[in-house]
Amino acid sequence: MDFNTELKNRIERTEGIITKYLPKEEGYGGRVTEAMNYSFMAGGKRIRPMLMIETHILCGGDGRLIAPFMAAIEMIHTYSLVHDDLPAMDGDELRRGKPSAWKQYDEAMAVLAGDGLLNYAAETALMAFDLAEDELDTTFVAEAMKLLFYHSGINGMIGGQCADVEAGKSPDVSPEQLIYIYKNKTAALIRASMDIGALLGGVDDDTLIAIDRAAYNIGIAFQIQDDILDVTSTEEELGKPIGSDDKNNKTTYVTVNGLDASAAEVERLSNEALDILKGFEVRNEFLEELVSSLIGRKA
Ligand code: IPE
Ligand code: IPE
Ligand code: MG
Ligand code: MG
Ligand code: MG
Repeated sequence: MDFNTELKNRIERTEGIITKYLPKEEGYGGRVTEAMNYSFMAGGKRIRPMLMIETHILCGGDGRLIAPFMAAIEMIHTYSLVHDDLPAMDGDELRRGKPSAWKQYDEAMAVLAGDGLLNYAAETALMAFDLAEDELDTTFVAEAMKLLFYHSGINGMIGGQCADVEAGKSPDVSPEQLIYIYKNKTAALIRASMDIGALLGGVDDDTLIAIDRAAYNIGIAFQIQDDILDVTSTEEELGKPIGSDDKNNKTTYVTVNGLDASAAEVERLSNEALDILKGFEVRNEFLEELVSSLIGRKA
């Protein structure tokens, strides 16, 4: 398998699935849907919907119920970025290689576009009920809804963003606080992605726990690598400003442990996740390569 060719194919396939669910830009509320679609379509690696579908494939899923959830997780992720860039939060003007939503539109529209994406994610995910063919499917969709909104809410991404903002105001951030931030602001949506993929594949509880553990590691590693790139990369390569963490006085894994130890931790966490994924009877080689490719990623 040539990973890069396969990656291109699978990103295209994922784009095809998730863009079907975008809202129409019409009427007096058309401006907000325009801003939602602008941010959603600006680019992005589509890591979360890809992790979802690939975990689903690993777990033997047939893909019947998953498309609305792939779109919904990317909508929630995109909303988190739109709000994260606001002047009230990180105050960043570039996202996915384009002006951030609040720069392209204005702050009011960026707030509404974020709200709109979150709400539309719920409407989209709920469409999976229409695809259910029997009672078991209905139960699967309900359980997947719970996972999606648990991990994106106050006990997940929103909680993590809250702690991140609070930590930015203080020079003393404890190791416990820091891990809370990574676990919630970033790992939570990766866990939702992979756990939903597994759940809809009909796995047993032990398998779901193993996938969740792998997802947790991938999520923490993903944020540490993001923090490394904030120091080492360029705006051109990243498509977002570098030095954002320093500008906002953020304590990160990198400021505490240095670049080398951070890179080593990304590798350790990722390899632990890979060991879990490779322990399955049936393997998904592409998923394994995708996770490996995140170690030392450049963007
Ligand atoms: C950026 O996520 C925010 C973090 C949680 C680190 P991504 O790096 O997945 O951003 P896109 O979707 O590719 O733009
Ligand atoms: C944000 O972390 C994670 C989110 C929930 C959006 P960062 O603030 O480091 O993400 P970037 O670097 O702006 O993408
Ligand atoms: Mg932030
Ligand atoms: Mg940010
Ligand atoms: Mg960052």
